[in-house]
Amino acid sequence: MTADILIRDANVLDGTGGAAYRADIAITGDTITRVGHLPDGAGDLTLDAKGLVAAPGFIDVHTHDDWAVIEDPGLACKITQGVTTVVVGNCGISAAPFAPRNGLPAPFGIVPRINELRAPTVSAYADRVTAAAPAVNVRLLVGHSTLRAGVMQDLDRPATASEVETMATRLDHALTEGATGLSSGLDYPSASAAPLEEMVTLARVLARHPDALYTTHIRDEADGVIPAVREALRTAKSAEVPLLLSHHKCAGARNFGKSVQTLAMIDRARSSQSVSLDVYPYTASSSALLPHFAEAAPEVLVIWSTPHPDLAGRMLDDIAADWGTDRGGAIARLSPAAAVYFDMDDADLDRILTHPAAMIGSDGIPGTPKPHPRLWGTFPRVLGHYVRDRALLSLPTAVHKMTGLSAARFGLSDRGLIKPGMKADLTLFDPATIIDRADYAASERASLGIAHVLVGGQLALHNGAQTTARAGRFLHRKGH
Ligand code: ZN
Ligand code: CU
Repeated sequence: MTADILIRDANVLDGTGGAAYRADIAITGDTITRVGHLPDGAGDLTLDAKGLVAAPGFIDVHTHDDWAVIEDPGLACKITQGVTTVVVGNCGISAAPFAPRNGLPAPFGIVPRINELRAPTVSAYADRVTAAAPAVNVRLLVGHSTLRAGVMQDLDRPATASEVETMATRLDHALTEGATGLSSGLDYPSASAAPLEEMVTLARVLARHPDALYTTHIRDEADGVIPAVREALRTAKSAEVPLLLSHHKCAGARNFGKSVQTLAMIDRARSSQSVSLDVYPYTASSSALLPHFAEAAPEVLVIWSTPHPDLAGRMLDDIAADWGTDRGGAIARLSPAAAVYFDMDDADLDRILTHPAAMIGSDGIPGTPKPHPRLWGTFPRVLGHYVRDRALLSLPTAVHKMTGLSAARFGLSDRGLIKPGMKADLTLFDPATIIDRADYAASERASLGIAHVLVGGQLALHNGAQTTARAGRFLHRKGH
């Protein structure tokens, strides 16, 4: 038997959450053809994986890489973490279906250059992805704020019945073209005026499309986190669609500990509806610089500012003091801007990370000079810090939260597991050395311990170094 690539003697964690087993893996073309003891096997290329874990390629279920996969298709920040698929279009902001316009509110800044991308339809976006040939695969959610921006001039009000109808028609079309679901960002000024009924009407469209899901950055992740979780559960239940709560957290010291209640609500709901969540392994969040986010955070690090680019990397309170103003005054002068907010508690994060329905998603925001370190470090940080150093999670469970669980939630039927017939997206890492190196001061540092990464049967990272392979694809939702 001759394969294109033969991986010898790996500790296989197949993505199901089951224990590791020793095996060889044969790959031909873009597909895993055999897994097991293959003494007769030969490969055009053989990778000696002794001492390494072979896992399915990691799926980053929460990204804002809509622009990056086209303009920075090497995606070093993701390949060096072992990520082989990114879900884009989160938090209500997607690059498609998008109509360029003036006067976009601040949160659209989380997808840099969204106006220049000019992707009026999902098909047009998929074509742009194909032409750019990114290193990673791309799965697209349709953003609710993006839909609103296409039909409304002022976004600070509920959509009218006819506007909702137009959005529903566009969403339906986008799903037909292969989008994976609908995302919302009800905590942002572009969508916070949308009532529950607007969301239920749109979410109902998803029910007509197999595997389509509703993901939401809920209306309030701070003082109002409990009613906001309740609203999300109710929206998805009314529409009879699967729900994914984005980057679940309880922000602000007053709300530390509330994850006990939110996770209990989720557990109760799971007896009668499909609910999952994603989480990143840091106690600081990052988003547009907005007063209500700053309110929950004792410390706020400014990471970019359009009018004051020189102030990226400085603390908001220091800037305000220099200017002789308060936080509100400084935010107004810095905007549009983005920040890192130190606003979470370790105990909540631990609790959420270990929840059985929680998947790993970086929420990384590319294209900024000083990004939150989650952009470069999320996956190795879970495997090195939380699994090895703290033993909060077992290695098979952590890998499952990055692969098999995520693929199942997003209807990725040929990825996320290691078995014959699956696509050859694989990450080989050393569990003894894997660790993130990006921090808040130096956030663009690649991790250690990732040895090889394959995307579609091509080596994207070899012996720790990125290759020129760019085998990522736009992954259409099946059944459309
Ligand atoms: Zn968000
Ligand atoms: Cu996000």
